[in-house]
Amino acid sequence: MIPLGKRALLGAAAGLVLAAPAVAQAPFPSRPISMMIPFAAGGPTDTVGRLIAQAMGAELGQPMVVENVGGAGGTLGAQRIAQARPDGYAILLHHIGMSTIPTLYRRLAYDPVNGFETIGLVTEVPMTLVARRNFPASNLQELVAFARREREKINYANAGIGAASHLCGLLFQKALDTPFTTVPYRGTGPAMNDLVAGTVDLMCDQTTNTTEQIRAGTIRAFAVTTPQRVASLPDLPTAAEGGLPGFEVSVWHGLYAPRNTPRPVIERLNRALVTALRDETIARRFADLGTAPVPVERATPEIHRTFWQQDIAKWRPLIQAAGQYAD
Ligand code: MLT
Repeated sequence: MIPLGKRALLGAAAGLVLAAPAVAQAPFPSRPISMMIPFAAGGPTDTVGRLIAQAMGAELGQPMVVENVGGAGGTLGAQRIAQARPDGYAILLHHIGMSTIPTLYRRLAYDPVNGFETIGLVTEVPMTLVARRNFPASNLQELVAFARREREKINYANAGIGAASHLCGLLFQKALDTPFTTVPYRGTGPAMNDLVAGTVDLMCDQTTNTTEQIRAGTIRAFAVTTPQRVASLPDLPTAAEGGLPGFEVSVWHGLYAPRNTPRPVIERLNRALVTALRDETIARRFADLGTAPVPVERATPEIHRTFWQQDIAKWRPLIQAAGQYAD
């Protein structure tokens, strides 16, 4: 039994609590945000991510800190974000793998589609077919002839099943009807180091990772995989010009948050993304690496989701026909 005096005191305390104003919600963001890059540092996704993160952080008034978790074609890093607290403080930059992983990986510890909210599209990057500098072929026709003749001599580097370099390699092998031995990395950043060192032979990778090496002559380039040549590498023929019409692929990137991230937070992140996409320094750097920011009217969460769903539907029959899964 509580004595009367104490009861009165407790009652007064309760009244004080009730009368206290609700604790104000801190405005978003009130602390640094982490941007997950699901591939190794120094590669193409990392390059795009770091440029965007810096500009977004400046606009948000909080640093955006890049974290690289590579491996398993980008699924390890994506899983971290699918399972993160949905408060906008952990977001993901991922690429075309978001469209192929749902079909390629039949056993994942996260939902590769419904585990995410879309924030907006970022960029679309051409790919280039490249080899170590002293590879015994000097153009695409010679490469095709060599690959058909001596395929067991080719080690093809990629960033794991579902990575863009894996998809591009699959399309190239399909165009030639010739399989190669593949060497998986945590990202094409480290794979590029080995290509420059000459310990792997061939790779198909985004211009954001290959342009400077091609210009420096540290690797050999055979073709760009877009219908038109890229302005940053004007001498590099398209695959069609080199004799492989239809060998086309480019890599789109988008930003994601965990499912159930509140809409106002998504909108705030989207506004920061749009500011980054309008940033002239980023546009110039992207152009130098053979790409461009998406037009801002396409950088909405809704257009991103629709585009992503259509891309999943586009890749599903191709992967199923190939019958090659990650499990
Ligand atoms: C890929 O092949 O998907 C990319 O090059 C991954 C990366 O950013 O390393």
